[in-house]
Amino acid sequence: MAIPRETVEQILQAAHIEEVVGEFVTLKKRGSNMWGNCPFHNEKTPSFSVNPARNIFKCFGCGKAGDSAKFLMEHEHLTYWEALRYLAKKYNIKYEEKELTAEEIMQQQTREKMFNINEFADKYFVDTLWNTEEGKTIGLNYFHGRGYLNPIIEKFHLGYNPIQRDAFTIYAKEHGYSEELLEQIGLSIKNDNGIYDRYHGRVMFPIHNLTGRIIGFGGRIMVDNKKSPKYQNSPESEIYDKKQTLYGIYFAKNAIAKNDECILVEGYFDVLRMHQIGIENVVASSGTSLTMEQIRLVKRYTKNITMLYDGDAAGIHAALRGTDMILSEGMSVRVVVLPPEHDPDTFGRDFSVEYVTHYLKDNAKDFLRFKTELLLKDAENDPIKRGQVIRDIIETISIIPDAIYRVSYVKECSQLLDIPEQTLINELNKILRAKFKKSLGIDNNTVPETDKSPSQNQEELLEDQLPAGYYQERELVKLLLLYGSKLITDERIDEEGQRIYEQVSVAQFIVDDLKNDGFVFTNAVNKKIFDIFDRAIDEGRIPDDSFFVSHEDETIAQLAVDLLSSPYKLDQWEKYGIFVKQEENVLRATVLSSIYRYKDLIIEDRRKAVEEELKATSDLDDQLILLKRKKDLDDIRKQINKELGIVIAK
Ligand code: UTP
Ligand code: MN
Repeated sequence: MAIPRETVEQILQAAHIEEVVGEFVTLKKRGSNMWGNCPFHNEKTPSFSVNPARNIFKCFGCGKAGDSAKFLMEHEHLTYWEALRYLAKKYNIKYEEKELTAEEIMQQQTREKMFNINEFADKYFVDTLWNTEEGKTIGLNYFHGRGYLNPIIEKFHLGYNPIQRDAFTIYAKEHGYSEELLEQIGLSIKNDNGIYDRYHGRVMFPIHNLTGRIIGFGGRIMVDNKKSPKYQNSPESEIYDKKQTLYGIYFAKNAIAKNDECILVEGYFDVLRMHQIGIENVVASSGTSLTMEQIRLVKRYTKNITMLYDGDAAGIHAALRGTDMILSEGMSVRVVVLPPEHDPDTFGRDFSVEYVTHYLKDNAKDFLRFKTELLLKDAENDPIKRGQVIRDIIETISIIPDAIYRVSYVKECSQLLDIPEQTLINELNKILRAKFKKSLGIDNNTVPETDKSPSQNQEELLEDQLPAGYYQERELVKLLLLYGSKLITDERIDEEGQRIYEQVSVAQFIVDDLKNDGFVFTNAVNKKIFDIFDRAIDEGRIPDDSFFVSHEDETIAQLAVDLLSSPYKLDQWEKYGIFVKQEENVLRATVLSSIYRYKDLIIEDRRKAVEEELKATSDLDDQLILLKRKKDLDDIRKQINKELGIVIAK
């Protein structure tokens, strides 16, 4: 069946793009558009916009754009007609379906059939739980016995599959479902003797996707039995991709966005328990290690993940896994370890909501602090192990995309590890440089052919080809974009030799400093952005990041989108109660050290050029002039390095 043409128009007009998109992406209003993190590509700062007036979406990062139907096709992997049906249902538009072509039927059938049979199975399991003797005495009793109340059992559509090995399979076949489909979706298993229920004798957990449709099941055995695993789970299918799925996301997504935090637990029951006691921003990774896709799923709603794990060794190690991935996405991770012998399920059962809430609040540890303390305890006084711990921690810090946040962590870890900050910074820089080179090696396909063998280090070649200070220039532009309007303290000597302090914006600080000393960015786009700030400061205003992201000059917009890949805004620090006192100091130190590093590299480059000239000339007068110039440059470098040393030592 298909939708009549005139209805298509009607549906598309009724659909409000911000409502359609809003079900999947957290949108914030800014100006006449709404903005969010693009669900189609990996990004750290919103460049995905929705224009309610024109009823379209557009991502300035990856370029995807279109109307409501297009969004659903891309996002939910629906066909055009499926998207329209979804919208018709959402906006309650009724129509007579017309006959479909054979091809169209084929297209929709598989997925639709799979959703269908899952829904059918879900009804059966729920009905069996509540309305059959066996379901009530075995299944419902099991849930009640574990302290679960009816509302939560109903909300999550928990069910029961009878002990008789083929009860459901027979029932489904009687209702016209084919053995082939039953097997494909995994509700039944075929062997030489026949076809049987995968979940017979188990209580059932349906697994919902973001829109609330059932994509699979998990079934728990009720008497522990060595021959059979505790949980049976659906195999993957056209509609069930395990690495993209988090149990409970459909019921948790609103609470996650509202609390700006996602609590991650391991098991089905952990999710249930938290919901039952009223903590609803909880999802489960279902016992497997976390995937990048799951992290991005969470990231649509919040950048803050709290991992809530058992107090035993396995739980702690589970907490350590996956966290590097979260950090690399620019998200913040905290860890709560429960008292030994507890998992979130029993913890929520044995203590009051108030106690649990306070426990979470008091025991949430920033992940790096958690990891450092844990590893240090293991290493005790073994110097070799300590060395490994330090390398391990620095490696993790290097994963954090935002420079300012890295600096803060270095400060904190220097205290925890009792190691000078500078030592940590040196180690960190080594890793960062190696990574940077590596990223160039992979990303840059404009590398010229050389006669060197591939085994020779191509990366060094690449670094040589970049203009001096390339990387530092970028860093300064990024500071301008991210923190341009933040205030820092400028310290200078006035005409009477008095030391005076005044608050200036980061943008003004950087622009004035570079202009006064005659430094000009070499990269054309960087320079454009610098000039925009320069002019704007004169006019007494500082443009924000969205100004650049949607700039009409595409090279500017592109660079801004690339650079604004830093989710850690300074105001987040306050929220987590860390580094509050240092906030301004850290920002100031970062700005200063970025400026000094940049200048240092530029001067070094000029000095090299002078040396080349020196080699090339035999004229004594010229040589003297060049030598003098060289010495001047050396003096400047010395001064810069002194200042840099002061900034870092502070
Ligand atoms: P747990 O063993 O912690 O289970 O495994 P649980 O959810 O807390 O269940 P109870 O409290 O013992 O009844 C955590 C998750 O790992 C997956 C399930 O998703 C489970 O919720 N798992 C576990 C399986 O898929 N198969 C298994 O055999 C065991
Ligand atoms: Mn459990």
